[in-house]
Amino acid sequence: MYLTKQEERMLDGEYGWANQVSMKILVRLGDLFGAKRLIPIQSAHLSGVSYKHLGDAAIEFLNELATQGGKAETLATLNPSSLDQQILPKRYSKERSAKQGEIIELYGKMRIQPTLTCTPYYLQTPKAGQHLAWAESSAVVYANSVLKTWTNREGAPSALAAALVGKTPNYGLHQSENRQPNVQVKLETEPQTETDYGAIGIHLGKLLKDKIPTIFGLRGSDDELKQLGAAMASSGMTALFYAEAPSKSEKLETTSVEAKDVEQVMSSLCTTDQTPDLVFIGCPHCSINEVKKVAQALEGRKVRKNAELWICTSRYVKERVKNYVGVIERAGGHVLCDTCVLVTWIKDLGADTLMTNSAKTAFYAPTLNEVDVTLKPLNKCLKAVCRN
Ligand code: F3S
Repeated sequence: MYLTKQEERMLDGEYGWANQVSMKILVRLGDLFGAKRLIPIQSAHLSGVSYKHLGDAAIEFLNELATQGGKAETLATLNPSSLDQQILPKRYSKERSAKQGEIIELYGKMRIQPTLTCTPYYLQTPKAGQHLAWAESSAVVYANSVLKTWTNREGAPSALAAALVGKTPNYGLHQSENRQPNVQVKLETEPQTETDYGAIGIHLGKLLKDKIPTIFGLRGSDDELKQLGAAMASSGMTALFYAEAPSKSEKLETTSVEAKDVEQVMSSLCTTDQTPDLVFIGCPHCSINEVKKVAQALEGRKVRKNAELWICTSRYVKERVKNYVGVIERAGGHVLCDTCVLVTWIKDLGADTLMTNSAKTAFYAPTLNEVDVTLKPLNKCLKAVCRN
């Protein structure tokens, strides 16, 4: 891979150890995928934040980077952590809070913003055509497909390296020839709810792996496409889909999604019919509109005893919907920022059964949280958690 003089000096260690390590990661990746050069990025979004998943070895590595001068050279944001600031710290050990705090502080030393959300695009929406280096698969697929920006599906180390260098290797979805659809999907069923979109996503992710589909007949809102993309990126490696195409191509492989495929996914993502201990809305983190919908549906209702309702979103969104937050809290629900069910320890809070409207969460929770799940649309989730 061609490197500028400055990039070569960085690789040789002239700009310090943190930059050298970062350059090594980017060059290794570039060589592996045949990139010819590095290109500047508008932002990096980093996963690898939750102490639940990171553990102590990663803290040591972050500490080394931060003390050896690592500083983000571009706008850099963070995915959710294992804790919010108000509710969960009181319910876990002090050690967990301290470790999680240390991780966020180390990122902060590296000029990486503690946004702690998987929907960084609500805070600052990147423009179509901009090059990014984002980890967090749900954000990647949304950025490429809905926002029309260009990013590969980065891992935690490569997104961090890109943040510190301000560049990423030019390969994969940074090149227009790799962004062409290579499979056509016909929707033979009309999705009615956000969970239908999620179920279609789970089905397609398994079927298509890392292919780029054009999905004919897909007319969802941005929130519904967010559900579909997040789910597709969970069961498969999808990083880009198209909701329409100028014309169908005879040459491309074609497949279809039928009502029975959606039903099959829905039933596979319901491992229990017991009443849930915890109902979770907000994977990916809720938009303003999604918080509003929850609040409107909760007006005059109360969460039943022995159950919890979590609505997860970013601080940015929460700040802008104070009225709706008030309604949710008066009903006995919690609006949590900085975290989500998958990256915290819900089992330790006594939750054995989880209900959610997110296919992504329902797909991962049985393994990552060791709980039983039920996937249901918002109205059914709220019915299950409310006493009226
Ligand atoms: Fe976001 Fe957590 Fe879902 S990080 S995409 S809410 S699993």
